[in-house]
Amino acid sequence: AELGWPELHRIPHPPHRLPLIGDALGSNPRTPVQDSMRLGRRLGPIFRRKAFGKEIVFVGGAALAADMADESRFAKHVGLGVANLRPVAGDGLFTAYNDEPNWQLAHDVLAPGFSREAMAGYHPMMLDVTERLMDHWDRAGAAGRPVDVPGDMTKLTLETIARTGFGHDFGSFERDRPHPFVSAMIGVLAYAQRRNVVPDPLAPLLLRAASRQNAVDMAFLNDTVDAVVRARRSSGGGGGGAGDLLDRMLETAHPETGERLSATNVRRQVLTFLIAGHETTSGALSFALHYLALRPELAARARAEVDRVWGDTPRPGYDQVAKLRYVRRVLDETLRLWPTAPAYSREAVEDTVLGGAHPVRRGGWALVLTTMLHRDPEVWGADAEAFDPDRFDAAAVRARPPHTYKPFGTGARACIGRQFALHEATLVLGLLLRRYELRPDPAYRLTVTERLTLMPEGLRVRLERRPGYR
Ligand code: HEM
Repeated sequence: AELGWPELHRIPHPPHRLPLIGDALGSNPRTPVQDSMRLGRRLGPIFRRKAFGKEIVFVGGAALAADMADESRFAKHVGLGVANLRPVAGDGLFTAYNDEPNWQLAHDVLAPGFSREAMAGYHPMMLDVTERLMDHWDRAGAAGRPVDVPGDMTKLTLETIARTGFGHDFGSFERDRPHPFVSAMIGVLAYAQRRNVVPDPLAPLLLRAASRQNAVDMAFLNDTVDAVVRARRSSGGGGGGAGDLLDRMLETAHPETGERLSATNVRRQVLTFLIAGHETTSGALSFALHYLALRPELAARARAEVDRVWGDTPRPGYDQVAKLRYVRRVLDETLRLWPTAPAYSREAVEDTVLGGAHPVRRGGWALVLTTMLHRDPEVWGADAEAFDPDRFDAAAVRARPPHTYKPFGTGARACIGRQFALHEATLVLGLLLRRYELRPDPAYRLTVTERLTLMPEGLRVRLERRPGYR
């Protein structure tokens, strides 16, 4: 009996397990998710992996993942990469333990920041940022230069969350290189991922230089956040207009208890939202543009919808975004194959039996591999690996069992920014499809880079302005 799984021996693991290093041989510490996907394909819906004494149970099968979505028996587990982010994000929303009082407090104070009214208020700012991107893309297109898709999507999504949430402008489009906030963030995420695969006792030795750099990165992130908060406080609050996220963090008391977020907690929330609010959306947009460039017939169908629904309205309104049904399906399908937050952890809240077969003790936990759940042939068919947005037409969605599609996690701790991300990404794809034809680089093969999140590495696309369209 180990790890809260009394019958662990019945869960398969890779053959040829070695003393000390366990199953680590042949795996690449930089691509833990893709390595685990390969293992899952061989070992089945539940399996375990051990590296240097740390053993982890993985769930990739749809039936078991659905069972773990039962909130009466399972809850979010703060482990692995999420726990490794605690030194920087503390009890911020994403990294808080379920029973930490600041989770409920911040959740209740910030949830109205994602209401329909709030989103409608962010919409014009999302449009402004996309127009900045298109200025930049027009110049590249006119010069016949390919654009750096992940780099530019990161500029776009960082500017969007910074302006809508915090009334702050990072000036990303005025820079050739990524904003140093982005470089520091990537450093911190990649370090948290590496900490997963280095045994604790060896960390001081193996990660000496990396941990020193990590401290520098963390300090930079905190300084950036402090400057954003200071600017708002000195402008007397209300800087972002009618209650953006920062106003809510600084000024809103809990509706029932009257409690407010402490200064330390505000710092952690701002950082959490600046990171969680852009990195995954950037990946989602980048993967979607990859598939749209690669499959002109799908792009044409999406573009025809945009032309039909929006015409040449220069600035489509908030309500016109949700009408892009097919564009939204392209995004849904993108997040099926490449959920950019590729896994989440669940722990048993009581002694229970997973899927009627695997006893788990209270506190026992497993990592749900969303990338595998979303490719389970039992649910998605023999062509599960193929990109096909029609999997998300209304009838197909109704026909699928519940809890089979989880790009935003599950239950009480699911993504608070889901609507924000989907609205932003649908709007941006609609605007880009209307304005450009996408020409893929014929030599490009999809390479996925991992830093807790997923991103298509080195994706470049050429653009052609569509004559007569905005
Ligand atoms: C939580 C995915 C966009 C803020 C989560 C979780 C997932 C996720 C899987 C649950 C993690 C877990 O169970 O450990 C995504 C994806 C996005 C996206 C795929 C884009 C395509 C956003 C945006 C924001 C945001 C735009 C903010 C504006 C958060 C926060 C949490 C969270 C604060 C923690 C919620 C809580 O525990 O109460 N996200 N997210 N995310 N996300 Fe997102």
